[in-house]
Amino acid sequence: MTIRIKTKDLIYPVFVVEGKRQQQRIASFPGIYRFSVDRIVQEVEQVERLGITSVLLFGVPSTKDAQASKAFDTQGVVSLAVQAIKQRFSHMTVMTDVCLCAYTTHGHCGVIASPKRQGTTSPVKIDNDKTLAALSRMALIHAQAGADWVAPSAMAKRQVAAIRNILDTNGFTKTKIMGYSAKFASNFYGPFRHAADSAPQYGDRKGYQLDYAQSAQALQEIKDDIDEGADMVMVKPALSYLDIIAKAKARARFPLATYNVSAEYALVKHGAKQGLWDERAMVFEIITAMKRAGADRIITYHAKDIALWLKA
Ligand code: PBG
Repeated sequence: MTIRIKTKDLIYPVFVVEGKRQQQRIASFPGIYRFSVDRIVQEVEQVERLGITSVLLFGVPSTKDAQASKAFDTQGVVSLAVQAIKQRFSHMTVMTDVCLCAYTTHGHCGVIASPKRQGTTSPVKIDNDKTLAALSRMALIHAQAGADWVAPSAMAKRQVAAIRNILDTNGFTKTKIMGYSAKFASNFYGPFRHAADSAPQYGDRKGYQLDYAQSAQALQEIKDDIDEGADMVMVKPALSYLDIIAKAKARARFPLATYNVSAEYALVKHGAKQGLWDERAMVFEIITAMKRAGADRIITYHAKDIALWLKA
């Protein structure tokens, strides 16, 4: 069977900032911007015109604190963006990232366990129960704003079950969950961390993200998320993890997404700019490989370009 990419396979990530008339360039991340809520509507209008059916929102608050207070603001940028998008484009599927790293001064994905005892270079441990409470609260706020999907990406244990539970208890039984199920502690997240201003201020994420030298745990995490009630699972990053995608798909015939992350995108962009390869040809080869491996949906910063190329 010949594999062909379709525009509706793609999910486009969008960064949301506070303020008005903002379209901020990100030096390490060519072609990607942070938008204020008033400008997001224009961006999504373009996205919709291209035939892309889903966006994934990331909030980038202007102030952060140790408690991630802005993550729980019902008037926060993500809630406002969800409302603005759903009001204008009711058919657009709006997904939101649920994680604390862009909201905390320390830049870690959850509530840190006994901060004073954390070393400065070792993997940081998160307090799982406190993190689950925070993620659940954040997911509920996004659902109340009208998000169709919430996507927990903190790699806390049982995060999908906790979120399913709070959504159901509050009547949001139709809100779906995409688990960032197999998320590796990767070097491919650099430009994203500039975009979201979410680089860890000390230690690293190996205390909660997966070790790339192993695959069994990744497959177990995917199974756990399915058992906990996820509607879609994910392998992240994509390009260096095609084996995980293929194995996951073979084990469970379940909706599977992969995240073609920021440095995978930046490599292609920078190489094309240097004249090392043809951007379009390279993007089609890479994204086709992800689909061939078994990904049903691909979250990619190339989505608008691909949609344009497919129209031409
Ligand atoms: C963490 C998160 C990350 C990405 C999305 N959500 C990674 C991280 O900083 O650990 C990376 C996505 C990308 O690189 O495009 N909540």
